[in-house]
Amino acid sequence: MFVWMVDLEEDIRSLQLDSAAEDINGVVNPEDEKPDVDKMDEDPKQEVQAQSVEAEPKAKVKEILSVQDEEDEQMKKRHLNVVFIGHVDAGKSTTGGQILFLSGQVDDRTIQKYEKEAKDKSRESWYMAYIMDTNEEERVKGKTVEVGRAHFETDTTRFTILDAPGHKSYVPNMISGASQADIGVLVISARKGEFETGYERGGQTREHVQLAKTLGVTKLLVVVNKMDDPTVNWSKERYDEIESKMIPFLKQSGYNVKKDVSFLPISGLMGLNIKTRLDKSLCSWWDGPCLFESLDSIEVPMGDPKSPFRMPIIDKFKDMGTVVMGKVESGTIRDGDSLLIMPNKDHVKVVAIYIDENRVTLAGPGENLRVRLSGVEEEDILSGFVLSSAANPISTVTEFVAQLQILELLDNAIFTAGYKAVLHVHSVVEECEIVELLQQIDPKTRKPIKKKVLFVKNGAIVLCRVQVNNVICVEKFSDFPQLGRFTLRTEGKTVAVGKITAL
Ligand code: GTP
Ligand code: MG
Repeated sequence: MFVWMVDLEEDIRSLQLDSAAEDINGVVNPEDEKPDVDKMDEDPKQEVQAQSVEAEPKAKVKEILSVQDEEDEQMKKRHLNVVFIGHVDAGKSTTGGQILFLSGQVDDRTIQKYEKEAKDKSRESWYMAYIMDTNEEERVKGKTVEVGRAHFETDTTRFTILDAPGHKSYVPNMISGASQADIGVLVISARKGEFETGYERGGQTREHVQLAKTLGVTKLLVVVNKMDDPTVNWSKERYDEIESKMIPFLKQSGYNVKKDVSFLPISGLMGLNIKTRLDKSLCSWWDGPCLFESLDSIEVPMGDPKSPFRMPIIDKFKDMGTVVMGKVESGTIRDGDSLLIMPNKDHVKVVAIYIDENRVTLAGPGENLRVRLSGVEEEDILSGFVLSSAANPISTVTEFVAQLQILELLDNAIFTAGYKAVLHVHSVVEECEIVELLQQIDPKTRKPIKKKVLFVKNGAIVLCRVQVNNVICVEKFSDFPQLGRFTLRTEGKTVAVGKITAL
């Protein structure tokens, strides 16, 4: 099973710009980086509730009087975007909600209210998830639809949680969440049968991992959740079984398991091993860190603040002008900057920049921003457009050459010129067509195969020409990895991952 992928491990990794340095068994050293978790409750910067990406435009933006002070504060702590991924019902929203509760963002009264509401909907155990799942449809069905967004911080890091939906119908929303993230928390249910269903073909555990890696999520924390469940009861055997099954798959997906991945057992619902370490009387075999410690000690390489500015737009709205939302992929943005919105080349001026609720005067790579602009109407912007340096704007194309790795075609179809799919690259979602297969690459030797290629099958690596109907903003993978890596999906399934090699 998946043998072909083993050979491709290196190749997929080349998509991710990983280094292959070795280190200890992937679990962060708890003694080195113990955060002062007790202080977190006193954190003055609190945001009471998660907001979905869609709901965010409604949020009132707080004007901060002393912009400079705020900016200094913002710049002192690093910022990381964490996407919660994993199969439906694994406990992503519950764990996200619990993190907010334990870090003092949600008070007991609100929890009691949610407990009652969950009970009224006959979904007693879902109350923690209600912190992240804010809309009625999500609460009634017990399933996340929109990517929930919330903030919390530890002593060293400001985190934005992006709570992705696990259901397969909402994979495009998950892609949007993962494309904004720096690190991922892969939530796996240890409950009898649930790990198995999530891990099977057709389960979302595998698809989410592959997508996350392709979308630039360089580090993964794999949390084995529901350890409190009666079918698990903190069993070391169950934990080890899940870890040993996940490791080969994570390797195949391009993760350096020793360097980029760590595992830990938790109970999201009970709030165990999240903010404080596990009690030995409950789980004698776990000596490792808790979730907050692990998140705190993850190191992530950041984009270059001096390179040309690029911020793919994921959403826009009207609020005293035009406001766009997105994550800075490269460069720095400052108040008063003159920039271009590509591909339309609309000249705009930066009126205000917000990180979370706070106004700042500049922001660099990795930051999720809301930027108020003058010189453009909200109607003239689409998600997938890119706020760009005016001197050195992002490339615009209707055709490009890419190296594709075919994962799994529907019904084992063949992949040939004329193949149509949906292209996902940064915040762009666009119909595309493969117009020509140029060259097949031998997955084993990595050398081009001389014979002319007319079609390929599952597992193949192939260089091809890809065409889109509308102009899109992309870059060569070698110049801006984040703007040059993409996925192809057909009928709701990811069929290939790729990198752009020529424009
Ligand atoms: P989607 O958003 O639909 O993908 O699901 P999700 O991963 O966000 O799962 P959610 O948090 O909604 O939880 C699903 C169910 O699992 C709920 O009934 C939770 O109470 C339950 N659950 C989550 N975490 C735990 C846990 O640690 N222990 C136990 N026993 N149940 C849990
Ligand atoms: Mg959820």
